[in-house]
Amino acid sequence: MANSQRRPIIAGNWKMFKTTPEAVAFTEALNKRVQGHATLPEILLCAPFTALTTVNDAIKKLNAPFAVAAQTMDHRDNGAFTGEISPLMLLDINVRWVLIGHSERRQYFNEIDDTVAAKTVAALKYGMTPVVCIGEELQEREAGLTDRVIEQQVRAVVDLIAPSELSKVVFAYEPVWAIGTGKVCEAEEANRVCKLIRTLIAEYGPAEQTRILYGGSVKPESTSALMSQSDIDGGLVGGASLDPDTFFAIIEQACLVKA
Ligand code: PGA
Repeated sequence: MANSQRRPIIAGNWKMFKTTPEAVAFTEALNKRVQGHATLPEILLCAPFTALTTVNDAIKKLNAPFAVAAQTMDHRDNGAFTGEISPLMLLDINVRWVLIGHSERRQYFNEIDDTVAAKTVAALKYGMTPVVCIGEELQEREAGLTDRVIEQQVRAVVDLIAPSELSKVVFAYEPVWAIGTGKVCEAEEANRVCKLIRTLIAEYGPAEQTRILYGGSVKPESTSALMSQSDIDGGLVGGASLDPDTFFAIIEQACLVKA
């Protein structure tokens, strides 16, 4: 059972899916499912930029127990950076959560540890909650380098953060080989790495309040085993977050284990 001081988070990462009508339909459907559930985790909908305002409006109208999150942002306030979105722009539309350094950003958009660290600092500067994604690639795991990669990715971020801010950062351990592949990491191994992340954070300051999620092929069937681990405080869900019934089944499983 996870530490009860840490409120669990179930985050749905829609990636480059859902037009605005689809996003609203999802929000309405999920809101119907959660009615009557008293102890819900924090539920995040990581929508594409184009749907953030629409989803936020739907949440407000329905009084739904969800928050929106952006899937990335630039670390600068403004400037000649065509196509980028700044923290100020997200705050302007009431977005207070942001995924940082998702492996697809690292893989396809050249984000490196320094970029991820700068974005995390920017999010904290503006009172946003960054969900910092870290994880090893398959060749790194096979070469026995998992712990070293994790350590490097954690230190890059935590090196720049004041001890008092450590509890404001959420980490998501997402082994790259488990993302979108259907190959979920064994719960005990995922917990071992999440524990390693917490131990590393503890070198810098208090780590007991920091929430650490697992992501990578989370499905309703795998949720219970993952969420019952001591250091896994929730899930970052990609494919299985696109359908409200499946996503709700994950939320429900998390509630059963964490309640
Ligand atoms: P997946 O994606 O659940 O489809 O593996 C997870 C993620 O990309 O965060």
